[in-house]
Amino acid sequence: MTNPTPLIAGNWKMNGLAASLSEARAVAAALTPGGPRVAICPPATLISRAAEALAGTGLEVGGEDCRAEASGAFTGDVSAEMLADAGARLVILGHSERRAGYGESDALVASKVLAALRAGLEPIICVGETLEERRAGKALEVVAAQVAGSLPSDLAGKAFAVAYEPVWAIGTGLTPSTDEIVEVHRAIRAGLVSRFGDHGRVPPILYGGSVKPTNADEILHADEVGGALVGGASLKAEDFLGIIRALA
Ligand code: 13P
Repeated sequence: MTNPTPLIAGNWKMNGLAASLSEARAVAAALTPGGPRVAICPPATLISRAAEALAGTGLEVGGEDCRAEASGAFTGDVSAEMLADAGARLVILGHSERRAGYGESDALVASKVLAALRAGLEPIICVGETLEERRAGKALEVVAAQVAGSLPSDLAGKAFAVAYEPVWAIGTGLTPSTDEIVEVHRAIRAGLVSRFGDHGRVPPILYGGSVKPTNADEILHADEVGGALVGGASLKAEDFLGIIRALA
């Protein structure tokens, strides 16, 4: 059974206009063979232009969310098929900003994962506890429940990633200690193995939450950390490359 292939993915969130693609081009131009897989997930409005601009480079493109249905009367929503058609290869699902801001349940996230698989997209499924839950000593319990509820059995044998993003570390400059990250990542791995057998050892488990060039080296070399999901620091090529280089 192969080790997880590391993945560094940038989540641009609701940031980026056409001019921002120059940052993505600069990242693509600086990637070196032998480094990790690298992806950017820009807003849906930029996916097709990003995919065209980055075609033939090592920088992959993903979406930030999708609806579970393939098409229909869902004004304003985007389906997994539409993301794939626009040139995305991956999609972030269950981000805490979606779970908190749009009331997305584990069951809804699981239905979006099925949509991603149906469209041939590789899902990056996000889990993570709030500060209140961590302070109550419930981080492992909360994350285990999210992993159990958000990952449908259809993922068996498929390419996917899990991202551990403690809600309180997102955009705050705060990060868990390396020991705390490793503890959660090992628990996620155990959950994946008990669910999917040997295939549960293959998906990379990304860490997300205030990853920067200054802390990337320590975080990315911790046990069971198979890459990063990067928010703010993925918007500038120089910062994102500073993180990628920790694994290059
Ligand atoms: P920051 O890197 O800005 O903390 O965001 C993390 C995140 O939410 C990535 O999905």
